[in-house]
Amino acid sequence: MIIIQNGTLVSSQRTWRADIALEGGKIHQIAPRLTPRPGDEVVSAEGLLVFPGFIDPHTHLDMDNGLLTTADDFPSGTLAALCGGTTALVDFATQDRGGTLKDALALWHRKADGRSSCHYAFHMAVTDWNETTRQELPAMVEAGVTSLKVYLAYDALRISDFVLLEILKLCRNLGLQIGCHCENGDLVNFLQKEELGLGHTGPGGHPASRPPVVEAEAISRYCYVARLAQCPVTVVHLSSAAGLEEVRKARRGGQTVYAETCPQYLLLDESRYGLPGFEGAKFVMSPPLRSPADVEALRRAVAEGEIQTIATDHCSYHYATQKILGREDFTKIPNGAPGLEHRPALFYSSFVAPGLTGPETMCALLAENPARQYGMWPQKGCLAQGSDADLVLWDPRAKWTVSAAFQHQKVDYTPYEGMVLTGRAKAVYLDGVLAAQDGEPVRTGLGRYIPRATIS
Ligand code: URP
Ligand code: ZN
Ligand code: ZN
Repeated sequence: MIIIQNGTLVSSQRTWRADIALEGGKIHQIAPRLTPRPGDEVVSAEGLLVFPGFIDPHTHLDMDNGLLTTADDFPSGTLAALCGGTTALVDFATQDRGGTLKDALALWHRKADGRSSCHYAFHMAVTDWNETTRQELPAMVEAGVTSLKVYLAYDALRISDFVLLEILKLCRNLGLQIGCHCENGDLVNFLQKEELGLGHTGPGGHPASRPPVVEAEAISRYCYVARLAQCPVTVVHLSSAAGLEEVRKARRGGQTVYAETCPQYLLLDESRYGLPGFEGAKFVMSPPLRSPADVEALRRAVAEGEIQTIATDHCSYHYATQKILGREDFTKIPNGAPGLEHRPALFYSSFVAPGLTGPETMCALLAENPARQYGMWPQKGCLAQGSDADLVLWDPRAKWTVSAAFQHQKVDYTPYEGMVLTGRAKAVYLDGVLAAQDGEPVRTGLGRYIPRATIS
């Protein structure tokens, strides 16, 4: 048995001083004081916060975008996650056009099984809707894949409104969660062409061709279609004040709309696209970084409880060999950026340390809400007797500097280079085993697949 003594435990509702005992991969007991027996290992958590392991519900590992494969795969991505305090992630298994959901799921298992250092689950990204796909949904639920993603942008991935309505109706009936990449693909295509026609070939053409209204229109349409289908929905990687307004509007009309945003939209702004040379390409992601006013609006929304989850949308491409392929044409810069390793510390440092939110909110946004929303509660995201012993001993006073030189993400940059952060994962337990300490791995390869439940 491991007994963690004198820590300050965190839930979404409160913090409290207690000891916590781990045995057989589970939380065995929580009490104000636990007396160790001979043979027990005692760990002091004096001065530390004890969080349930953080969950990143939006990653793209080992993803082939048709031309390139992401820099991080499951071995590197899950290891990086673990070192930063993330003990579980939900990656997007993505259906090939012309392929089945079953094949996509089998492929993602081959990518992840036996190769992961934190736990993992899969959403299913549906890109080719047909009779076979329709028939496959119950089997997905059976296999523990209880959430779908659809895209309204990217020609190789996006679905029509006709298909969206049918999928949403089925999700409602089967109790599946659904997330949507909300950008209007037709508008993006038009604006990209216009930017290139004006000779704007550099990274600055990226935000210009995907302005907030492109996101807001898609969120509005998604929510209206969801209203027709009477289906609760999630807007993933919300990036703009205009998009947030559409979420609010749907909620005011009585709809359930979950909102996910990401550290990049809370900490960085569009000025990055004006960096010298081709540096702006490091920040080419969709949706793009926004204005300082958008950043402020989202930060306020986080503090006021309007956002349910903070994910990373981790989708890493090497700057020197992959981003560079768009040197002459911004539409050829692979979209996405890394963040998986740094999300907990970025959030703690920019929200909890300055007092904008308490650690309870961090627990809600990074652990409890993703666990509840995606069918992993109360095994995960929860410090309670019988829950999985995935937890993070968090040092609220640690000061450190983010640098690609010291990261475990297998990519040659980080968007957060040089940021001085407060707070860091001191020790990370996976199934009751010390798996990372002070940002470095202790035990690798312990990650397991998490079959998830439906929540209705
Ligand atoms: O630019 C991004 N976000 N790439 C990853 C795929 C997606 O849109 O979520
Ligand atoms: Zn997306
Ligand atoms: Zn994504």
